[in-house]
Amino acid sequence: MATTQTPSSLFSLDALFDNPLFAGGIGLASLGAAAAFARRGAIVVLGAARRRLLVNVEISKQDPAYPWILAWLSQPREATGFIASRITRIHNLSVTTTTTNARGAGAGGPVSASFFLQPGYGRHVVKFGNAYIAVNREKHSTANMNTGEPHEIVQLTTLWAHRHAFEGIFAEAHKLAAKANEGKTVVYSARGMEWAPLGDSRKKRPLGSVILDEGVKESIVADVRDFLSRQQWYVDRGIPYRRGYLLFGPPGSGKSSFIQALAGELDFGVAMVNLSEMGMTDDKLAYLLTKLPKRCLLLLEDADAAFVNRRQRDADGYSGASVTFSGLLNALDGVAAGEERIAFLTTNHIDRLDPALIRPGRVDMMLRIGEATRYQAGQMWDRFYGDEDTDGSQKELFLRRLDELGLFGTNSDGTPSNRHTSTAAIQGLFLFNKSDMQGAIDMAKGLIPRDLEAEEDGVPMKQAKEQR
Ligand SMILES: Nc1ncnc2c1ncn2[C@@H]1O[C@H](COP(=O)(O)OP(=O)(O)OP(=O)(O)O)[C@@H](O)[C@H]1O
Ligand SMILES: [Mg+2]
Repeated sequence: MATTQTPSSLFSLDALFDNPLFAGGIGLASLGAAAAFARRGAIVVLGAARRRLLVNVEISKQDPAYPWILAWLSQPREATGFIASRITRIHNLSVTTTTTNARGAGAGGPVSASFFLQPGYGRHVVKFGNAYIAVNREKHSTANMNTGEPHEIVQLTTLWAHRHAFEGIFAEAHKLAAKANEGKTVVYSARGMEWAPLGDSRKKRPLGSVILDEGVKESIVADVRDFLSRQQWYVDRGIPYRRGYLLFGPPGSGKSSFIQALAGELDFGVAMVNLSEMGMTDDKLAYLLTKLPKRCLLLLEDADAAFVNRRQRDADGYSGASVTFSGLLNALDGVAAGEERIAFLTTNHIDRLDPALIRPGRVDMMLRIGEATRYQAGQMWDRFYGDEDTDGSQKELFLRRLDELGLFGTNSDGTPSNRHTSTAAIQGLFLFNKSDMQGAIDMAKGLIPRDLEAEEDGVPMKQAKEQR
């Protein structure tokens, strides 16, 4: 009674394969598997080929070359044939708009806007010489912790054979950026923990347009030039290559304007920090000073703000979110201070500063940029009306009028007048009377500072205020 199950089971397997539906299924499945296998193989081969045949350059937004490359990409290029011009068309653009405010008293609101078109996010193709370059501009989902801005990269890809095109591209992009800034002064300000250009670069202010008292300008310019020519001298002696200047004096005497003009003269930028600005802390200041952009004058406005904060901290033990006195000293010459630097500090209140600030290494040269002198008023007249007032007779009338008003510190009878005016006020008067010399002379009385006008009637200003 031997019953064999096997033949019958084999038989049933055969039957299964004989079934056209089943056999077809197996066939299809194996075809699918082969296709998937081939696809993976192709991907691997392509990936390997890509790695071997292509070159990638990645530029992140933090890199100074990032805006240069974007500017280079947005350059108009002549079409070199039908196909090339179709391939290299950029369809995605993004725009950066800058509005400029009219500077000066009472002016407000954006008066002009410039639009700068750049390749947008996504993929583009550009042609450089014979090489086609694939460009991929991407915004990442991660962000810079300091500024909150998302990370961004531009990736340039080309054939291995064309890899030398990159050198050409970077050189051209840099040349373009340098040309765009020719005759301009770049002003940087702190954005978060980074230095960022503040608006468009400004046209250089000619040094001759800032009129300081006789010899003052020349002495600073000579000192800075001397310092710039002595780097090796400092290195040889192991001294940090730093120099600090403190310009102090009343508002509107031309301190900031002079520093801007000096930067233009030296072909430097200006990296500006306002010490009384909200959110500027000791740590942030120290960090920013270690990362100063190259070829920049460091400008610390309102240096006295740090000293006011010291007093506040002494009183309540908390300094608030501002720079303190010791924070400023450490930033200027603590262990973490940058090696190379030219710093300009400005203040309206020299009396509030601490002697600790004014020592070599922190401040090497101190200059008062004071109220307008007769010399300055005369020079400013020449700049505004020199062409019309060829014999200088009107200038004499104007200066005599200011003498009569006692605006240079002495009355016409030689007694001290205690009255002064600022170069900014004189500039304002001339701007109001652009080509009207007589008007400027007639309105000279307006140069008397307003808080002194009450004294006109023999009532001192303080009393006059109290009486009101
Ligand atoms: N000595 C000067 N020569 C030419 N222009 C001047 C001079 N002083 C002031 N001005 C003009 O007056 C305006 C204000 O000057 P600026 O901002 O340089 O003054 P400041 O000394 O920095 O004042 P503050 O102490 O208030 O910062 C500018 O438009 C500038 O052109
Ligand atoms: Mg100023």
